[in-house]
Amino acid sequence: MALSPKTQEICKATAPVIEEHGEAITTRMYEILFANYPETKSLFSDAPENQHKLLAAAIAAYAANIDNLDVLGKAVEGMAQRHVKTKVKEEHYPMVGLSLLEAIKDVLGDAATDDVINAWKEAYFFLADILIAREKEIYATK
Ligand code: HEM
Repeated sequence: MALSPKTQEICKATAPVIEEHGEAITTRMYEILFANYPETKSLFSDAPENQHKLLAAAIAAYAANIDNLDVLGKAVEGMAQRHVKTKVKEEHYPMVGLSLLEAIKDVLGDAATDDVINAWKEAYFFLADILIAREKEIYATK
């Protein structure tokens, strides 16, 4: 199932502002994630210093290519492999997703209208489903 045209439109329109504030958003996201779901902390024990930059870059790339998801294929594979190595599971996705949406609200303030948040919610869980499906395949080969 593809993303709705409205979601694609809103994500594309807000991609530059998300990218501009990418680091602030992902830094805030980790604060919220670790405060609300401390059990996720240990997953990041080997994470590089620039982890939040990688996540910001992934979000920005996703936003820029929202109507052309095929180009993200390689990136998806890299993320899925890293996630399986660090034991990321399906149940972690809502934790990160909700933390990310809260962080977008905190950083963008009034610009984060309900339409914007709903569009990013749909987009996040769309990408999450792609990653979860690939990660299941990789776990099954272990
Ligand atoms: C759509 C959602 C997500 C995106 C776009 C995303 C993106 C990324 C990216 C770009 C990397 C770096 C990959 C690399 O090293 O090449 C990464 C690694 C990682 N992600 Fe995610 N991620 C998502 C969901 C999650 C979830 C739900 C968790 C679980 C809490 C998680 C935990 C991690 C961990 C532990 C690493 C590895 C850190 C390390 O290098 O040790 N991610 N993710």
